[in-house]
Amino acid sequence: MSLFITFEGPDGSGKSTQISLTAQYLQNLGHNVLLTREPGGSRIGDQIRTVLHDVTNTEMDPRAEVLLYSASRAQLVAQVILPHLQAGGVVVCDRYADSTFAYQGFGRQLDFEALQLITAFATQALKPDITIYLDLEVEQGLQRKVSANSAGKGELNRMDRLAVDFHRRVRQGYLEMARAEPERWLVINACDTVDNVQQQIRQRLGMQLGIKSQAAG
Ligand code: TYD
Repeated sequence: MSLFITFEGPDGSGKSTQISLTAQYLQNLGHNVLLTREPGGSRIGDQIRTVLHDVTNTEMDPRAEVLLYSASRAQLVAQVILPHLQAGGVVVCDRYADSTFAYQGFGRQLDFEALQLITAFATQALKPDITIYLDLEVEQGLQRKVSANSAGKGELNRMDRLAVDFHRRVRQGYLEMARAEPERWLVINACDTVDNVQQQIRQRLGMQLGIKSQAAG
């Protein structure tokens, strides 16, 4: 039975830990689980990831940025995700199109309708069955960052302030998208313990697997 699960959430939300626990859990249930990530997840996608993450690419236009993320996604969907789903497997993806709506739409404030068209084209209109958003207050995320970097005391500089506003818009965007499509989204407080977060994920997956297997007969 095919199932497409995506994870969204900021750095420091425990996303990677929850993704591997979830993949392990589904594997133990006997599913054929494929774990992948964005940007990247394919040979071509990894090359695009290098361009996107290169800190010297400071002149990158936001439109170029969104097209690069979308190009990586198009390759991942066509080469990796769709074939695995068509073979009846489960795909767990670290970030997907909702990252584009959150970061390039709400964060960079690019035209939403354009993003929807580009995304539908890039993904062949493939949407996740479940999207798990690990929610963390922007300030808490920042604090985690600051305490990880022991030099980070005192006032935030201008860029940090800009980054805070940007990340506030991103978070509000995620919450708004989750409210608009509650049947797809599961929002979890990332400050909860690893076990509690995983418990909530399993409960939701259990529901979804139940629903899907009933539908399959
Ligand atoms: P990454 O290093 O993969 O880390 P993480 O997922 O743990 O945050 O960073 C991916 C970055 O790219 C992250 O800051 C979100 C951003 N991003 C976008 O802005 N748009 C997108 O469409 C995607 C997939 C990611």
